[in-house]
Formats: sequence, structure tokens, C-alpha cells
Amino acid sequence: MAASTSMQVMSVKPPFQSQPQNNIKKPVIIRCCSSSSSTTAAKKSYNITLLPGDGIGPEVISVAKNVLNLAGSIEGIEFKFNEKLMGGAALDATGVPLPEETLTAAKQSDAVLLGAIGGYKWDKNEKHLKPETGLLQLREGLEVFANLRPASVLPQLVDASTLKKEVAEGVDLMVVRELTGGIYFGKPRGFGTNENGEEIGFNTEVYAAYEIDRIARIAFETARKRSGKLCSVDKANVLEASMFWRKRVMAIAEEYPDVELSHMYVDNAAMQLVRNPKQFDTIVTNNIFGDILSDEASMITGSIGMLPSASLGASGPGLFEPIHGSAPDIAGQDKANPLATILSAAMLLKYGLGEVKVAERIELAVLDTLNRGFRTGDIYSAGNKLVGCKEIGEEVLKSVDTKTPASV
Ligand SMILES: NC(=O)c1ccc[n+]([C@@H]2O[C@H](COP(=O)([O-])OP(=O)(O)OC[C@H]3O[C@@H](n4cnc5c(N)ncnc54)[C@H](O)[C@@H]3O)[C@@H](O)[C@H]2O)c1
Repeated sequence: MAASTSMQVMSVKPPFQSQPQNNIKKPVIIRCCSSSSSTTAAKKSYNITLLPGDGIGPEVISVAKNVLNLAGSIEGIEFKFNEKLMGGAALDATGVPLPEETLTAAKQSDAVLLGAIGGYKWDKNEKHLKPETGLLQLREGLEVFANLRPASVLPQLVDASTLKKEVAEGVDLMVVRELTGGIYFGKPRGFGTNENGEEIGFNTEVYAAYEIDRIARIAFETARKRSGKLCSVDKANVLEASMFWRKRVMAIAEEYPDVELSHMYVDNAAMQLVRNPKQFDTIVTNNIFGDILSDEASMITGSIGMLPSASLGASGPGLFEPIHGSAPDIAGQDKANPLATILSAAMLLKYGLGEVKVAERIELAVLDTLNRGFRTGDIYSAGNKLVGCKEIGEEVLKSVDTKTPASV
């Protein structure tokens, strides 16, 4: 039956398409870790769209905004914030999860910082009226095709990992996931019947060269700014789309002779991530493998409240958000961990604006706050000081003010 299904799908014409054709010639401007670092002499100004969203979103965004303001003022950078409705909050106020006004503001800004969206109240809405639909529309509207998710096991939180201490200790990797192509968008897709009259469901894994080339360049640039090691994950022993992926990644590698490229099949990568995650530095992979591997990698760190992410396009503003959701179970109780959002703000500075020094100041402040023993409930362990969202935010501000990164 599998064979007959595949025959049916293969016979569909015209050629598979996963992206609008007008994207093909778009130039790729790599903005990862740009070298335009800040100087205290020149006052710079950036427009940031803030999308607090739902649940704990407004709580964590409020803390991150304060951190950005203080870190920026120390480094001679001004942030102009434009706060807009998104998700359930937008549904309640305007009837849609992503109002036109929000998308327009986001597109016109230098970067977008999102809290989280969703909640019980809107769970039973029709698909087009779900908060999550607004998030997909935002990603599509901003044309962000590269999702960067770091997974670092901080020495202070190594016990939070489900892996043995000696395996988890020192893990510091980045998953670069293709976000807008592959099987999640490829056509043909749908339901039907095969020649035996049986019901089938089918999807298509398809990548055009330009889609692979642009994500590969983002990944090589990212690896170059880290330890110079890039592992491309595919299933080139079985899938034609993966064979093509590997061919394009190898072609782009010629532009980056200083980056050491390796390849791994996805099943082995899933295994190696829990066996010996320290072997990885930067991983690049397609949409579906990245979806799974980035969740697996992030869980090595053991704490969802600590994990930031960045979504980047070829040009235009990037979208920066913690990987956690709106946590309706703790919303409004001052229990949320804002560190993932603060670290997302640091990614915004580093990968979105190229303001590496301010980003480092914020990252150092988070580490310093943890070193001083402050913990929200999700990362608390005996011997530390249990604090709420606002208080840990205040502590981060103190560290931002007093700690100077080595590069400054
Ligand atoms: N990008 C997004 O905005 C996003 C992502 C995932 C889920 N969601 C939405 O969020 C809602 C809740 O989803 P869920 O419960 O599956 O996932 P969730 O991430 O919101 O929560 C999972 C668990 O982790 C805890 N948690 C999450 N973030 C935390 C933080 N910063 N500090 C402390 N604890 C934290 C929660 O209390 C909960 O116990 C749903 O409506 C879902 O659709 C949104």
C-alpha cells in the first residue's frame, strides 16, 4: 500500500512547490552576529515592536523591556518601544489574532520581541481565530525562514538536566532550523484515496536550491561566530530531498572554508544528542527534523523558562521569543521565569541588530543573577533563594548595572 500511495503522489504535476516563486531571486543579507558593534560614543536608536501577548507574556516582556532599557542606556543605545496586540489579547480587542496594525508595525521596526500567545479561553476557537494562527501569520508576514535555538547547560543549572551530570555539563549548542519550507508547506498535500479505495493522507518534503542556500549561509555564519563547527542533519540515505539538501550545503560550504562541515543522518543525530551532546556546536537542518531535534536539544538543559529563540529572514526585522508558551497555569501570579525572554532580548541585540556588546552585558547579568542564587520556581533547588518574576528581574537589573563583559 505504501508503494501505491507513493506512486499516486509522484504522478502529480506541475512540479512541487513549497514557496512563492517571487522569493527565488531575493538577495540574502546575512545579519547573524554582524560586526557592527556598539560604541558608547555614538548614540544609536532602534525601534522595537513589543508583543506581550497572553498569559505570562506581559509579565516577562515587562521585565525584558526594563533590562533592554538599562543595558542600552549604559552602552549609548536608545530603544523606542511600540507595544501592539497579538494572540488572544488581539482576538478579544479586534476579533483577529494578528491585526493589520500589529503586522505593519512589526514590519516597520528594527526587531520584534514577543512574549507568548494562547490560553484556555481561545482553545475551542476555529482555526483561523486561534491565537496560534496569529503567530504563524506573523512569521509568514515577516518572512523569517531561519529559526535559531540555542541549548546551553548553564553550570548553575546542570542538575535541572535529565541527563547525567557528566553528559550534560558544558553542553552549548545551536540548532538552526529551516522554518518556512519542507514538508510542513510542500505540495501536494491532503487526503484522498488510493487505487484500493483506501483513505490516505499525504505530504511532500520539497526544497528548492534557494531555500537551502539561504539557511545554509545563516548556519555557516552562526558556526563561524561560535566554534567553527557545523553539522548538517538530513536523511540522505533515503530521501531525495535530503540528498539535494546535502548537495547544496556542500556547495555553500565552499564559501566558508574556515568552517568545519560534517553530515549526520537524523536518526543518528537524535541518538547522539542524548549520548554525547557536547560533540555538537552548530546544527543545521530542515523544518521537520529541526522541529524535533530543537525540542530534544532544549530539554537537555531541563528548563523551559530559560530558553530563547530567534527567527531571521533575508532582510527586515527578526522575531525573538522565548520557546515557552503562555503558561496559563501560573499567569498573573508573579511566578513566571523571565530569563528566557531576557535572553531572547539578548539574541535580538546579537543576531537582529548586531549589538554584540549589549547582548553580552545582558547574558552576563543573567549568569551573575543565577550565581548570586536567585531562582524562580521552575529552576529552584534547595539552597537558593526563591523569588518571583519581578524580583528576579530587579536582580538582573542590578547585575546589568554592575557587571561588565570581558569584551567591553
Ligand atoms: N510561542 C508561543 O507563544 C507558544 C508556544 C507554546 C505554546 N503556546 C501556547 O501556550 C499555551 C500553554 O501551552 P503549554 O501549557 O503547552 O506550554 P507552556 O510552555 O505555556 O507551559 C508548559 C509548562 O511550563 C511552565 N512554564 C512555561 N513557561 C514558563 C516560565 N517562563 N516560567 C515558569 N514556568 C513556565 C508552565 O507553567 C507549564 O507548567 C497554549 O495555548 C499554547 O498553544 C504558545
